[in-house]
Amino acid sequence: MASSAAAVFQANDQDRTKLERLQALVAGDLERVNRLIVDRMESRVSLIPQLAGHIVAGGGKRVRPMLTLIASQLCGYQGDRQIKLAACVEFIHTATLLHDDVVDESDLRRGSATANAVWGNKAPVLVGDFLFSRAFQLMVEDGSLRVLEILANASAVIAEGEVNQLLTAHDISTTEAEHLDVVRAKTAALFAAASQIGAVVAGRPAGEEEALRAYGENLGIAFQLVDDALDFTASDGVLGKTVGDDFREGKVTLPVVLAYAAGDEQERAFWRRTIESDETEAGDLDHAIALLRRHGAVEASLARARDFAEQARAALSSFGDGAAKTALGDLVDFCIARSY
Ligand code: IPE
Ligand code: IPE
Ligand code: MG
Ligand code: MG
Repeated sequence: MASSAAAVFQANDQDRTKLERLQALVAGDLERVNRLIVDRMESRVSLIPQLAGHIVAGGGKRVRPMLTLIASQLCGYQGDRQIKLAACVEFIHTATLLHDDVVDESDLRRGSATANAVWGNKAPVLVGDFLFSRAFQLMVEDGSLRVLEILANASAVIAEGEVNQLLTAHDISTTEAEHLDVVRAKTAALFAAASQIGAVVAGRPAGEEEALRAYGENLGIAFQLVDDALDFTASDGVLGKTVGDDFREGKVTLPVVLAYAAGDEQERAFWRRTIESDETEAGDLDHAIALLRRHGAVEASLARARDFAEQARAALSSFGDGAAKTALGDLVDFCIARSY
């Protein structure tokens, strides 16, 4: 199996180096988290470790568990509860990816075929449920009702976000605010929870919990807005996912919202045809990208992402300077400039 922390696809070297530098700060912890993930994927039902092992072997950036690890470090925590909780956070994330790829009918994830492309839709849905359950077992072992509350809430909100996205898909009248609502739920909720629990394990006051939560939430929004931009601008080999999936699925993301708002009648007719119907034609994605360019829609989305990133950074202002705070700042830079 490939090293679980290293993506096997051709991620941009510079970005990789940036991420590896961040991972180095918590290298020992991250190694323990990765081992625990592999351990807890075990089951007497062999398809479970086989399928879960497939997605875990694909790598993954481990951004969310790093949030828990670094946040607990920032709060001066000395114990080892962060290991189980970081693994738990990554299990929740992995479960949502398995489900998300079924819903989005995606073929490529972390540079490899998605589980649904290999096994069909049924197995990844059920193994996703298994991973969710494993996450809850880890929380029970940790024994904190407060942590359970935070991560259970996040899990419910993520599911709401994914369902809500079903309702906005194919709806070209989706507004920026409605889209942000989906983004806050499907992505930012877990970033927020992962960061907040770093303060909880350290027993820090409510103000610090809130500050880390705000950091994670704003970073999560920025992260997803960048993801939405990359869905139009990246290349499959670098991203490890199929570029254009959102467009083909009729997902209305921020670049589309902005280009639709700025478009003339002919352009709007194009967006309506492609987003509202289930089928796109050859050349539609290229035309969509050309329209986004014409209106600077990707750049404008990235500018919004940078605003949220600045709010994430600002949320850390009350913490003392040091290696952990620098790392959380570097993580913001990575998430904004990332190419994968
Ligand atoms: C993918 O998350 C899902 C989104 C919220 C866009 P990541 O980009 O963190 O996925 P991995 O874990 O690195 O593969
Ligand atoms: C994020 O949405 C999915 C979750 C948070 C579950 P996307 O659908 O954009 O994620 P990717 O692009 O498939 O990774
Ligand atoms: Mg998806
Ligand atoms: Mg995406």
